[in-house]
Amino acid sequence: MVISAIAPQPIYRKDYQPSAYLIHTTELSFDLRENETIVSSKIHFYKNPKCLTNDNTLFLNGIDLELISIVIEGDQPNYELQDEGLQLYQLNDEFVLELVNRIHPEVNTSLNGLYQSSGNFCTQCEAHGFRQITYYLDRPDVLSVFTTHIIADKDKYPVLLSNGNLTKTSAGKVTWHDPTSKPCYLFALVAGDFAVLEDSYTTISGREVALKIYVEHHNINKTGFAMDSLKRSFAWDESRFNLEYDLDIYMIVAVDDFNMGAMENKGLNIFNSTFVLADPKTATDKDFINVEAVIGHEYFHNWTGNRVTCQDWFQLSLKEGLTVFRDQEFTSDLHARSIKRIEDVNALRTFQFAEDAGPMKHPVRPESYIEMNNFYTLTVYEKGAEVIRMIHSFLGEAGFQKGMKLYFERHDGDAVTIDDFVASMSDANDFDFKPFMTWYSCSGTPSVSISSNYNEKEQSLQVVVKQLGEHCYFWPLNYALFSEQGKKIKQGMLTVDQKQQEFVLTGVTSKPIASWLREFSAPIKLVTELTVVQKIVLVGCEEDAFSIWDNAQQIWLSMILTPDKVNEMNFFNALEKFINTTTDKSLVSKVLTLPSERLLHQQVKVIDVFKIQQQREAVIQKILNRFESLLLATYQSLINTDVYELTPEAVGNRSLKNTCLYYLSQAGHLQLVNEQFNQANCMTDQIAAFNALLSCKNSYQAQAKEVFYQTYKDDVQVMDKFFAAQSTAKLTTVEDIERLMTHELFSFNTPNRLRSVVGGFTQNYINFHHQAGYEFFTDIILKLNKSNPQIGARLVSVYNHWRRFTPELKALQKQQLERIMQTKDLSSDIFEIVQAALKP
Ligand code: PHE
Ligand code: ZN
Repeated sequence: MVISAIAPQPIYRKDYQPSAYLIHTTELSFDLRENETIVSSKIHFYKNPKCLTNDNTLFLNGIDLELISIVIEGDQPNYELQDEGLQLYQLNDEFVLELVNRIHPEVNTSLNGLYQSSGNFCTQCEAHGFRQITYYLDRPDVLSVFTTHIIADKDKYPVLLSNGNLTKTSAGKVTWHDPTSKPCYLFALVAGDFAVLEDSYTTISGREVALKIYVEHHNINKTGFAMDSLKRSFAWDESRFNLEYDLDIYMIVAVDDFNMGAMENKGLNIFNSTFVLADPKTATDKDFINVEAVIGHEYFHNWTGNRVTCQDWFQLSLKEGLTVFRDQEFTSDLHARSIKRIEDVNALRTFQFAEDAGPMKHPVRPESYIEMNNFYTLTVYEKGAEVIRMIHSFLGEAGFQKGMKLYFERHDGDAVTIDDFVASMSDANDFDFKPFMTWYSCSGTPSVSISSNYNEKEQSLQVVVKQLGEHCYFWPLNYALFSEQGKKIKQGMLTVDQKQQEFVLTGVTSKPIASWLREFSAPIKLVTELTVVQKIVLVGCEEDAFSIWDNAQQIWLSMILTPDKVNEMNFFNALEKFINTTTDKSLVSKVLTLPSERLLHQQVKVIDVFKIQQQREAVIQKILNRFESLLLATYQSLINTDVYELTPEAVGNRSLKNTCLYYLSQAGHLQLVNEQFNQANCMTDQIAAFNALLSCKNSYQAQAKEVFYQTYKDDVQVMDKFFAAQSTAKLTTVEDIERLMTHELFSFNTPNRLRSVVGGFTQNYINFHHQAGYEFFTDIILKLNKSNPQIGARLVSVYNHWRRFTPELKALQKQQLERIMQTKDLSSDIFEIVQAALKP
């Protein structure tokens, strides 16, 4: 959407009004042609009984539409075309509107509304894409029953799909009917030439559901894992949440051009192909688990999102926070819970905490937005899931499920708010969540300090918890106390609900070392009094994997940022013992992995990209000085040629092996890296070796690139890795990136490819952060402003932290932001991000 001279205006949550009219039925007809698509719609409106105004006018959203005809009950109504829609006047309390309009999916690069990907048609309607298809009440609290006719050339588009059940079919013309009422953001249409994998699932009550996964023909042999994941999703939601699927058919379509991960359209999910296609030769362990998680996520939306949907987009976390929590639990139940927790917390701290500390920070339930697409954020999704997790911690699994049951009893078929969800949790458990609501209304990461005093005579520990920010949050504090010899004394959960609060723990038989915030029981920044020596003890004695990892991370952070203050000998001794005695190889791998540069940037007052990289590399050198031979021995003990498996053990072995491989590459063991590259039996091992070969100058690199390219050039997902490996490699310059963008497989309008080349490069700190890097990048943003503003807005957020860089880089980034701001026809997407970044 392109704006005119006036700046785009925000929309406020407090201004929510129910719609004066609602919709019974929507009948759509799509005539898909080469140079245009004709959309005809028949919409049955009626006055909202809950809305007591005398208003007989109605505004329908519509963007980039060409109106061909408009009729209400045989006559031309009183109407006016406006910039972003259609205004109707003098309406009856009930009427049928018949519209015909023209759109141009064949040139739609925004990937919203109806567009083409690899020559096939598909749609993306959340949040505001339906208004790019036809005039409509494009808001989530207007639900209707949809019937969809599709007409298309039967040879080019043999597969014609929409939501619900296929009710009529002849060559080149089909009709779909979706019996469940839904908001238009869940509408979907697909037309194209696809191969299909078919299977079925018998639900807990014995109904048979047809399962279909549609992909481009050459990908059909990479769909088996997605199908298995889908069946696991059905089964898990039945057993853990007692939720059954409702329609007789569930379809997934994979497309290469997609702005996000996937979309939960009723009965017809549309996926970024990266989250469908997987086989061991081309997908890493992480890719497999992500495919399963995203398939699960979209499936779980059928209850949390579709059957109970959002009243307005400010409630987005109602469906997303809850559904992320559900997909996290799904992965945890099926794989390694402790490792999943470490990964989620690491991502939260690296990305969400940064968002919460930047110019676009917002509450889990935002109060306003200019462009809704900018609020599909880590805060709404990941922090939103942490907030649900705390509710779960307070209520326990049984209480949480009681709350879910009441939520569905009360609201199935409705569009509701976060307050409605929390009220169900409260009422089902007689638990007061009022003080909890700051988690939804305040932005920023809470800072907390904990201090304690041991009273030997009383055998008690006095604990003082202080919430250091302006708000008071209500949260669970999991802890355990250990003796100085590492024996557990006691464990439990405290409930914090005051700004400053004292607890007295009794039965503390010796002076304890306290492990606070076990399992990361609340999304906060915690400062404790633990010394490095005490943290080392905890690494050795804790049973909670998260705490082990977290203490190790804190020690690494200190070693990197304040090298003179840490004596690494003690830590290294403990680490050696840990490596040699810990059976969980995934955990060892995590503990051995240093905090990323990106995370380090958050820990310093002024970001000096060079200094941080050097300090981090200095610690890598220290690790190598002490552990090179242990790393080599560990590596060699983990080489195996077994068939590929995705068990926690196999994943753990590969993870540790490849962490070792990375360190060894930094010590010059490149022949070994090259051997792994050539002999790998799976992508996890091969890409790890490829990345390591690209991380420094060596004689194997050129050939590895050529071999990798020749082997996988027909595989889109692997080629994304090929590009990303180069854009993030330490030796890559702006000129190299410009050259990559002329590669025959580069595609500017394919978000995955653009992210792997340009997004990757922005994380290549030394090479990106200088004038030429910025100028190159801003040019891309300005191009995206026209072609795909949603992706442009996501990428431009790289500049959000400009104020925290060293003076020279700060000034240069500011210049770029001002240059963007001065561009005419700036999209509301990019405008919102840039103006927030520049706001004094
Ligand atoms: N609702 C989708 C999900 O989280 C994400 C999405 C949002 C996709 C907007 C496309 C557009 O499952
Ligand atoms: Zn979602």
